[in-house]
Amino acid sequence: MAKALGFTYIANRFYSAGVPKVRAQKYVLNKYFQGEPKKSDFQIIEEELSVLKDGEILTEAEFLSVDPYMRAYMIGYKLPTDMIGGQVAKIIASRNKKFPEGKYVAGSFGWRTHTICNPSLPPKIGFLPTTLLPDISPHPVSLGLGILGMPGNTAHFGLKEICQAKPGETIVITGAAGAVGSHVGQIAKAIGCRVVGFAGSDEKCEYLEKDLGFDRAFNYKTANIKLALKDGAPKRVDCYFDNVGGEISTTIMNFMNYYGRVAVCGSISSYNDDKLPKVTILQPAIVFKELKVEGFLVNRWIDRWDEGINANLKLLREGKLKYNEKIYHGFDNMVDALVGMLRGENTGKAVVKVK
Ligand SMILES: NC(=O)c1ccc[n+]([C@@H]2O[C@H](COP(=O)([O-])OP(=O)(O)OC[C@H]3O[C@@H](n4cnc5c(N)ncnc54)[C@H](OP(=O)(O)O)[C@@H]3O)[C@@H](O)[C@H]2O)c1
Repeated sequence: MAKALGFTYIANRFYSAGVPKVRAQKYVLNKYFQGEPKKSDFQIIEEELSVLKDGEILTEAEFLSVDPYMRAYMIGYKLPTDMIGGQVAKIIASRNKKFPEGKYVAGSFGWRTHTICNPSLPPKIGFLPTTLLPDISPHPVSLGLGILGMPGNTAHFGLKEICQAKPGETIVITGAAGAVGSHVGQIAKAIGCRVVGFAGSDEKCEYLEKDLGFDRAFNYKTANIKLALKDGAPKRVDCYFDNVGGEISTTIMNFMNYYGRVAVCGSISSYNDDKLPKVTILQPAIVFKELKVEGFLVNRWIDRWDEGINANLKLLREGKLKYNEKIYHGFDNMVDALVGMLRGENTGKAVVKVK
């Protein structure tokens, strides 16, 4: 009977009757990461969820995100702590009219299977709001973690507000085949820029040039970076979208034009390092070329969140934005997925399909 009716029906009946029945599974971090994250740093535990109050929804995760910030941020939490992260989840019971059953939300619920929250309340500081996914069929709802979610908005606002890229300018992107980088390159092409990417394999570079329309892409593991820049950016570089940091960023910033703009988005090249690497001094390039270098967190545009999502949705519908996903499977494989993404297994966005 239960199987025939489906989980949603069962959850609604129990929740309307006020009987708490749903048991959530969640990852708790017990040990700070050293080097790559390990399964033994975590424990999966179960908790029984309480009864829905007015305004609350119960969700069931369908896709969980693995993102580089997870490796970098956990040191800021007191242990043990619930693992942070975004997810796309289905609303399976609701006492909030704006968030009806059957719809999908993107939320910062962490690595857990089921969640109760009031999506109408403002998010905790540093977290993103819980948002209803627009109708994106025939595309998968997992795009709410990628081009139509946090990485998509990072690309949109980082490029438009920080780089302020203009038609005819040359932009260089590191981490170019990942979720943010591959998206930045496509928006920059749509603006009319020359786009040069650096990524970690020949296959990724071929994907960037042939599928996404990058003008040039180079394998940073095998290329001479200076020669690659001369070859790929004959008019030098106006904008640099920095996803990786380290020596490659110094080399690129030394190859920029006067008044170039650098969007410092992340520094994944050192996230797994306990001791931060030393790189060649950057100040001469910044001073003599009068560069504008600005770090940013995408949360800066939390009040304009929908603007970014809608702009990316428009590009998707116009056929100007392609996407690729590396899909891992199973709630038990979250750590493998996180490590795989940090090692560069993904082209495009890395996500985990929960079931
Ligand atoms: N500021 C913000 O608000 C914000 C928001 C989202 C993301 N970010 C940052 O943006 C960057 C990209 O994030 P994402 O979500 O799009 O991840 P991603 O690029 O989809 O995945 C991470 C990629 O990093 C690359 N990588 C790993 N080790 C590297 C190394 N030593 N040197 C160069 N590249 C390396 C790998 O690709 P390869 O095969 O090419 O090495 C891997 O696929 C990260 O630094 C992240 O922290 C910042």
